[in-house]
Amino acid sequence: MEAFRHHVYVCDQKKPDGAPCCSANGSPRVIEALRREIGRQGLGAHVQVTTCGSLGLCERGPNMVVYPEGVWYSRVRPEDVPELVREHFANNTVVERLLSGDQHAVRAEIDGNAQKRLAAFRARDEAGVLPDDLQQAIRGFQDSRVLLTAIELDLFSAVGTGADATAVAGRLRTDPRATESLLNALVALEVLEKRDSRFTNTPAAARYLVDGAPDDSRAALMHTAHLWARWSTLTECVRRGTSVTYTEMADRDDEWTRAFIAAMHKNAAFRAPLVVRAIGLEGVRRVLDLGGGSGAYAIAFAQAQSALTADIFDLATVVPLAEGHIADARFAGRVKTRIGDLRKDDYGAGYDLVFISAICHMNTPDENRAMLARAFKALSPSGRVAVQDFILNMDKTGPKAGALFALNMLVGTRGGSAYSEAEYAEWLRGAGFQEVERLRLPGPTGLMVGRRP
Ligand SMILES: C[S@@+](CC[C@H](N)C(=O)[O-])C[C@H]1O[C@@H](n2cnc3c(N)ncnc32)[C@H](O)[C@@H]1O
Repeated sequence: MEAFRHHVYVCDQKKPDGAPCCSANGSPRVIEALRREIGRQGLGAHVQVTTCGSLGLCERGPNMVVYPEGVWYSRVRPEDVPELVREHFANNTVVERLLSGDQHAVRAEIDGNAQKRLAAFRARDEAGVLPDDLQQAIRGFQDSRVLLTAIELDLFSAVGTGADATAVAGRLRTDPRATESLLNALVALEVLEKRDSRFTNTPAAARYLVDGAPDDSRAALMHTAHLWARWSTLTECVRRGTSVTYTEMADRDDEWTRAFIAAMHKNAAFRAPLVVRAIGLEGVRRVLDLGGGSGAYAIAFAQAQSALTADIFDLATVVPLAEGHIADARFAGRVKTRIGDLRKDDYGAGYDLVFISAICHMNTPDENRAMLARAFKALSPSGRVAVQDFILNMDKTGPKAGALFALNMLVGTRGGSAYSEAEYAEWLRGAGFQEVERLRLPGPTGLMVGRRP
């Protein structure tokens, strides 16, 4: 590999509880400015920027070190960056005013800070203080709750292009003092910014969390807000072995169903083309999308092959939502819907592919055996079934997203869970499928496929 002329390490370490650190001093904005300016000055091929943990000068961050020359800069602000890039990287001239200081003094300061840090670790350890990562995992719900409350209140839309706490509280009809605390916490979580007493959305909040934004995700995120209520019953669910708040999918209210299907649609937007490619559509003309939800996958199958027709089989409460998406995508001619209960009703016959995405986790193992046996009957000879779901490793401890999803099903269903590759393979073979194999996909879910002989 051809070496870079300069390699810059910029500290972006975050420290808990307000301890001085580069992140708290603004290193994310410096890193962003550095990347932008290097590109703007046409130096992208020569300068590599890498973010890193502590460089040992925490009190005077943001710090960076440039190699191979070993030049250290401190207290760099975004407005220093154009000069720094021009002088150091284009003209090979050190920017004296930003230097961390005399080499020996810098080294002594780093060594002194390392000693202080070790002493602090030792003292905490002797006092039996919980380690930061464990503490953070236990308190993690606070970050999530703050964000979900902001989403439930539609606070990011109320902040709009910028507003103070009184104006936001006025728009939301909330208590001004409480609203200000919430806004301040959202600044701490880096989804809002605050200058004087005025709050503005960060670029990420403006893109995803504001009414009418280009990638407005609020409807889908309301599903996560609904999950919060279920997850708070986890202790009782573990005692009893099942959901303590369960209602049949068909009986859930409109708001819940809309948020749920919006969340499924959002997930599928990126995954559907990957899934279609991984399965392959050679010889596939008729697809059954069992529990097809928003229709995102059925539409992707139809998009990928012009002669293909797809039937979405789902509940009466969900089919109208799928029909909306089918109409938006202009696929009403080739993507149809059927109302039915996949636990009771016949699936039809003569399909080349039965696609079952995010369904098996709602079911018990016996319900999955029965469902796959019916899918087998719905296929023509040589037809295939493709199951997309979280697929756990043998001891069911990972991947982490799947292990946590098993609990999501515990709190939300009567007998659902996340299952392992071995379990899927056993059910598929038991239903009569051959050529059973796992297809890996990027992200937390995978595919299990089998062929009807
Ligand atoms: C987790 S979503 C998955 C949606 C879609 N397959 C996807 O991957 O985006 C589960 C779907 O199963 C449907 N469903 C749940 N119980 C059902 C039942 N008894 N009969 C038919 N569909 C059902 C739900 O309405 C929902 O659309």
